[in-house]
Amino acid sequence: MPVETLRDWIPVALSADLPPATVIPAHTPSGILALWRSASGKLTALADRCPHRGMRLSYGFVRGEALSCIYHGWSYGLTGQCQRIPVHPELIPPAAIKAASYAVEERNGVIWIAFEQPETPPPALEGFKPLRSITLNTDAERITATGEMRVLLAGIDVLLLIVGIGVGETLAHVMVDAAASDVDCIAVSRAVEGWRRECEQLGLEELAS
Ligand code: FES
Repeated sequence: MPVETLRDWIPVALSADLPPATVIPAHTPSGILALWRSASGKLTALADRCPHRGMRLSYGFVRGEALSCIYHGWSYGLTGQCQRIPVHPELIPPAAIKAASYAVEERNGVIWIAFEQPETPPPALEGFKPLRSITLNTDAERITATGEMRVLLAGIDVLLLIVGIGVGETLAHVMVDAAASDVDCIAVSRAVEGWRRECEQLGLEELAS
């Protein structure tokens, strides 16, 4: 597994898994971020910790162009700046009340984040389209040393974006040949389940040996 730097793009989700006005926890090798899409479609990645009392912002909810914390309802805008404190509706929140925000880009149906703004955009992954994301109960380095791999599943060319998200936990975003039909995609989706079992079994055998 490559050593990620702060300026590396990390694939964290497929666009289809984050519709407008929703927030999800985005798993990275360095922890979880609150990834949300505003009602108008803008993406923001914030530290998953409310500046008020530390509640996870990924448990919150999106209203319009703001993410609100589930605990006391403080809401944060697209830059992470606190916009509103419900118990003090007349107060303009001080600039210091701000959740850390990170670089986020969406390309070819994949959402990428980086902890510092990279100099280049994330890869286009031309020739592929997103299918699904899966989690595996094994370490990423047991699967690939490069963070991505091309395999043939159900006879279809597949690109797997692999991210280690913890000890014994890996996230894989599955991209299929852009020409794959709906039937092909269903076949690949099933084959990916088998690939996951093989990877997890391999990990268990290595541990036992
Ligand atoms: S902990 Fe988030 S608003 Fe209080």
